[in-house]
Amino acid sequence: MTGEEIFADTIARDQRVEPRDWMPDGYRQTLIRQIAQHAHSEIIGMQPEGEWITRAPSLRRKAILLAKVQDEAGHGLYLYSAAETLGADRGDLTQRLIEGRQKYSSIFNYPTLSFADVGVIGWLVDGAAICNQVPLCRSSFGPYARAMIRICKEESFHQRQGYELLMTMMGGTPEQRDMVQDAVDRWWWPSLMMFGPPDADSPNSARSMAWKIKRHSNDELRQRFVDMSVPQAEALGVTLPDPELRWNAEREHYDFGTPDWSELQRVITGDGPLNRQRIARRRQADSDGAWVREAAAAYAEKQRSAGNGSGR
Ligand SMILES: [Fe+2]
Ligand SMILES: [Fe+2]
Repeated sequence: MTGEEIFADTIARDQRVEPRDWMPDGYRQTLIRQIAQHAHSEIIGMQPEGEWITRAPSLRRKAILLAKVQDEAGHGLYLYSAAETLGADRGDLTQRLIEGRQKYSSIFNYPTLSFADVGVIGWLVDGAAICNQVPLCRSSFGPYARAMIRICKEESFHQRQGYELLMTMMGGTPEQRDMVQDAVDRWWWPSLMMFGPPDADSPNSARSMAWKIKRHSNDELRQRFVDMSVPQAEALGVTLPDPELRWNAEREHYDFGTPDWSELQRVITGDGPLNRQRIARRRQADSDGAWVREAAAAYAEKQRSAGNGSGR
């Protein structure tokens, strides 16, 4: 069989494509772009919540938040490594991010105004990420699928910590309950937008589904997220800010309103509330860390030349 036939057969039999296998160039490029955007999202996603580490209300909350933000750094690293197996260069991917040539999830361009945002991000943003990512554990590219299995385990922990924080706040003072409701009002619609534009406006989706990189359409995943979140909101005692939200017995799903897609477009194209700040912070971190990378590279080089012939 030719490489092309083996690839088609691997996809048809639901097996994994591995880095050394032949693959169409479009498949490789699509994966590099998707995995890189995903990695960038994990790293940029450290910022909104990271801002609250020094202001966490107790040592316990600080320790939890610190661990969660560190997990996101780890997710970024697994994913950059997966992209490297496709021939991408990590330094080049970082460069693309800080020059605005490669995107990250728009959700992280919104501000975190109170500590309730930490809970709502865990509940809704990590919750939406889980809906998106669980099917990626069966993605056709092996290293990506395997990275997603580890990531999803940690994401579900993140979601629970967010929900637990909100439960605690909802059992607190009226001011705390108001903080939670305010955060839910601000994050609900951006969370729905995390699934991307409606299927009709998402031309690359069909190809990604044929290649089994993606398993479900944007609208399917969005519906799944809404169905999952409504009972959780009820248990919490918060109102989701959508007057059109109601159970549809015929469809056996919740009906819901239409997100403001022009807002998503604005935020994607760089005009969200905090796009410039997020990228400036990332650029600063990159230049602050340049000496570490140089030192590490010099050390590795020295080890290589010292080790030549000595069998080390
Ligand atoms: Fe993550
Ligand atoms: Fe997370």
